Amino acid sequence: MNSFEKDWRFTRNSGKGFESAELDDSSWEKIDIPHDWAIAGPFSPDHDSEVIVDDPIEHTRKVFSHPGCTGGLPHVGKGFYRKHFELNLKPEQSARVEFDGIMSHAEVYCNGRYVGGRPYGYSSFALDLTPFVKNGTNLLAVSAENPPGASRWYPGAGIYRHARLIVAGRIHIAYCGIRVRTEGNRVTVRTEIENPSARKVVLTTRLIDPDGNEIASCQTSGDRLFHCEFIPDEVRRWQPGNPVLYKIVSILGDERHETGFGFRDLTFDSRKGFFINGIPMKFQGVCLHHDLGLAGAAVDRDITRQRRLNQLASIGCNAIRTAHNPPDPELLDLCDELGFLVICEAFDEWKRPKTPRGYNLLFEEWSERDLRDMIRRDANHPSVIMWSIGNEIPEQYYPEGPEMTRRLCGICHEEDPSRPVTAGLNNVDDSITGGLFDAIDVKGFNYKPYIYARYHAAFPDAPIYSSESASTVSSRGEYSDRLFEESGRKDNLQVDSFDLCCADSATIPDHEFKGQDDNPFVMGEFVWTGFDYLGEPTPYHREWVRSSFFGIFDLCGIPKDRAWLYRSRWSKQPTLHLMPHWNWQGFEGKEIPVQCYSSFKTVELFVNGISMGSRTRNPKKLLGAYRHVWSRVPYSPGELKAVALDEKGKALAETSVFTAGAPEQLQIDCERCGNMVFAVVSVTDRNGNLCPHASERIDIESNGKILAVDAGDPGSAKPFPLPYVNAFHGKCAAWIRNPGKTLILAKAVLNGKTVQTEITAEA
Ligand code: GAL
Repeated sequence: MNSFEKDWRFTRNSGKGFESAELDDSSWEKIDIPHDWAIAGPFSPDHDSEVIVDDPIEHTRKVFSHPGCTGGLPHVGKGFYRKHFELNLKPEQSARVEFDGIMSHAEVYCNGRYVGGRPYGYSSFALDLTPFVKNGTNLLAVSAENPPGASRWYPGAGIYRHARLIVAGRIHIAYCGIRVRTEGNRVTVRTEIENPSARKVVLTTRLIDPDGNEIASCQTSGDRLFHCEFIPDEVRRWQPGNPVLYKIVSILGDERHETGFGFRDLTFDSRKGFFINGIPMKFQGVCLHHDLGLAGAAVDRDITRQRRLNQLASIGCNAIRTAHNPPDPELLDLCDELGFLVICEAFDEWKRPKTPRGYNLLFEEWSERDLRDMIRRDANHPSVIMWSIGNEIPEQYYPEGPEMTRRLCGICHEEDPSRPVTAGLNNVDDSITGGLFDAIDVKGFNYKPYIYARYHAAFPDAPIYSSESASTVSSRGEYSDRLFEESGRKDNLQVDSFDLCCADSATIPDHEFKGQDDNPFVMGEFVWTGFDYLGEPTPYHREWVRSSFFGIFDLCGIPKDRAWLYRSRWSKQPTLHLMPHWNWQGFEGKEIPVQCYSSFKTVELFVNGISMGSRTRNPKKLLGAYRHVWSRVPYSPGELKAVALDEKGKALAETSVFTAGAPEQLQIDCERCGNMVFAVVSVTDRNGNLCPHASERIDIESNGKILAVDAGDPGSAKPFPLPYVNAFHGKCAAWIRNPGKTLILAKAVLNGKTVQTEITAEA
């Protein structure tokens, strides 16, 4: 957090004169930004609003109320922020404020006067404050307003991304004014200078290698646009697994900017797939909404790194689609650093609405600006491989679609000729008739593994990938004694974790795997979604449930079974994972389904040492090709064991699940990343076996700031900041912010006794 982000005043209100310097704001809440005013709750069905469903066949639109569609948090309405700051600008200096994103309809005032604003909550923008500031104390006032019915997921609320106050010379490098391009070993740098007096100035541009050594430098003199070029003899290439970053340092007088970039060549081959630096690579990707689960929309580098990217990397994920909006710029810095490929997506709707008061109302006036600004801001990132102009855009069915598509593609190509344009298509036929298919460079198919071959035959020059796959739903740790549940809906408003249920018109993961394996030209997939997110609780459309079931990881970042399914396909690590739990009291002698997600070909299952038979991956059987399934295993308490076998029947690996006894202990596992500590508390029996039905209340204490305590139960309405929660299938998580040595204490009454465990996370 920079010093400008500290000590703001905030009120959940807006009124006449709130921007005025005379107003006394001392009673307003004192906060730091990034800030999400709604995340603390309370949850309520009254906070959710309506969604529009566009029926492509009937061409009709219905507005209906969908409780939980945005997560049930109080994000709708107005909020006002004020920041008093000292400034002493010299005549040759300028001041500007930069916002990475304000949710939404931001209006910015300085010393009582309107400076400018930005309606789209995901767009970054900068405003020149020079004509508005005075020497001494200044006031910046920012209003934000979220209309009801403007989002299909939890959008967050307020100044939820970083902000900066920049003091520079009157002549300075423009906001997002540096563009670095590479082609082979050649680097070109174009720098735009804001220079009101059009005086000649000198710009120095240095090329710095990954070890921090300057390898070349150039000095150019001019007034507004500066170009320079380097062609080093040898360069190291950026790619997932080896994310080598170079730097351009730009110096103008006292001003110094660092821009990270990488050398990499991308090939999108319609017949052979995607290549980076000549190496074939499949997108093993996920779609991510922007919220950080328990932390809401307020951005946090440590949470993004540890509870998003590092976890995804642990299962072999190498790509992210920023569904369905421009991301936080820090996400892209981290993707550059950690080696993820990124599709930056601009919009979820154009002029035809998916929500009554969403982007459709802004499209006409703002789409060009929002799209250009996203590209100008993000084009230097080596991680970004494509620009997406939209997701399942209703215009794909309508006559005006092609022209709108061509306009948006034109903007992308003009801003960045080096990257292809894509979009997520959910109705490929209509998009062909309508021309959208033709206008985009790389075709993103949403949930269409069955038609890859057909479209490839008809359009052999069209590069194809799955922009959205699976939409499989599950609750972590939830199982019943039957394998197939058609809709996934249950009386307890959970969904079984056997990964056999998915959204309408979506598929289970296996169908997508098969579609790709049968059609190697498909460049890979982006699974919907990496993490459960707030809102969109499919398959519950009428009942109130706060969060989605789509994640490979739950809302707290705890892996669901599916994490091992994707790991078994995406990662080189040997994987052997068994489900369900083995605590089926009352089911003795009855049959329970068992599944194993494994990287091995053959797995044998045992109950208390008795073989239940082996299963060998069989590409001809859909449910036997990517998972090992025993649909009816007689239950008797004890040990459920899976043994991976080689062709000669020799054991290669094994894993067991034991019937747990009564809950007696709390176990804490924790990870630290920067200033954040992430603890997972498990309720276990005396032997350390997870108690899979444990739902006791767990209280957390810490010397750090407890940001959130939650258990990933999509039906929970407990506000995140309260320092306790009922365990969900034996587990819960606590997210604690503390730069120093952190003590975490978990307490619960288990089996009639108070139990307490503590752990220290070193700084
Ligand atoms: C897709 C849509 C996503 C999400 C998903 C849920 O059609 O693009 O935003 O709504 O369905 O299954």
